[in-house]
Amino acid sequence: MKKKRIGVLISGRGSNMSSLIEACKSPDYPAQISVVISNRPKAAGLEIAAREGIKTLAINHRNYDSRTAFETDLHQALKDAQVELICNAGFLRLLTADFVDKWHDRQLNIHPSLLPSFKGLHTHQRVLDAGVKITGCTVHLVRTDMDAGPIIAQAAVAVEHDDNEQTLAARVLAAEHQLYPHALKMFALGEAYVENETIKVRANTDVASSSKPRAMFSPRVING
Ligand code: GRF
Repeated sequence: MKKKRIGVLISGRGSNMSSLIEACKSPDYPAQISVVISNRPKAAGLEIAAREGIKTLAINHRNYDSRTAFETDLHQALKDAQVELICNAGFLRLLTADFVDKWHDRQLNIHPSLLPSFKGLHTHQRVLDAGVKITGCTVHLVRTDMDAGPIIAQAAVAVEHDDNEQTLAARVLAAEHQLYPHALKMFALGEAYVENETIKVRANTDVASSSKPRAMFSPRVING
């Protein structure tokens, strides 16, 4: 199988990146990580990736006068690594329309809420403040508008009555670690594809017909 070449963009601890690294170790997983790039040189995820023998790069946005100059180098680094798909995994830089357009339908992001609800930062506290009972996480294609773009897959997580920001974040993060490899697999295989700005799933594929659901639910939601 020809594995798709992935560039992972991070800014911090890189736990979602680690879940992708683990998935890519399986010989029948349809993707491999060609490079991990952080805009923050001290991101812990860079060391984790390097220990796994993956090429890493720090492209520090502070060293650039403009977003465009930063993105020119970022784009070139991804090209140099022959990246076919980008996975944003806790990448905390807003990208310009120019960069987003260059990677149209080839850039994925994970967000810790059930989009289109709770876009942006401080998601879990806002979920608690709003009093919603179900939250979750979303893998979607990147568009110019933040946390918008066709939704590839989502996982639901129940909000417990005694949750605080930390406990809720931890359970959502565990769901993220399952969801991202699942969504990337569907997309890399072409089993999930874009049509009219929504994601369709091909008929007669594992994803459409079997135990691999598009949406995943934590046991608490199913049982509770
Ligand atoms: C995750 O919650 C992700 O959804 C959000 O930023 C966080 C990154 O965590 N975009 P990590 O660096 O993957 O551990």
